[in-house]
Amino acid sequence: MKRRILILSAPATLALILFYACGSSQSASTIDPNAVVTATYSSISSHILQNGCVGCHGGSGGYSFDSYSNTMKAVAAGSPSSSLLYRSISSGSMPQSGTHPSSAQIQVISDWITAGAQNN
Ligand code: HEC
Repeated sequence: MKRRILILSAPATLALILFYACGSSQSASTIDPNAVVTATYSSISSHILQNGCVGCHGGSGGYSFDSYSNTMKAVAAGSPSSSLLYRSISSGSMPQSGTHPSSAQIQVISDWITAGAQNN
């Protein structure tokens, strides 16, 4: 009897997880840790900054990641370890809420900064 309940509830649980997973990705304000991000400003901006940072860092006051020039206020081109953008994400302190980028995506941010943090 116990076994039967387990068999019946597994698909229901899966359906529930899928339902919530799909629902949250549609809200467009969460980083997708599976998205393939390339080491360009446009890719990092559209996958990481717009989805995971601009909700809190989009206006005036404090750091803003809504444009290349504003983003560069937290970036030291050539040096990820001197860049608050990279340090805040790699330390895990940012984003303060929501999904965190994967370690592969964090590496891509480091690569972009190392290569000169171009507006590409
Ligand atoms: C839920 C809101 C929220 C989100 C989302 C968020 N931040 Fe923040 N962030 C804050 C707040 C509040 C502060 C100021 C307080 C603090 O330093 O902890 C802050 C501070 C910072 C700072 C300054 C840290 C310092 O040492 O001065 C940086 C850089 C930063 N965030 C980067 C990011 C990046 C990059 C993202 C996206 C990956 C992000 N944040 C997402 C709320 C957020």
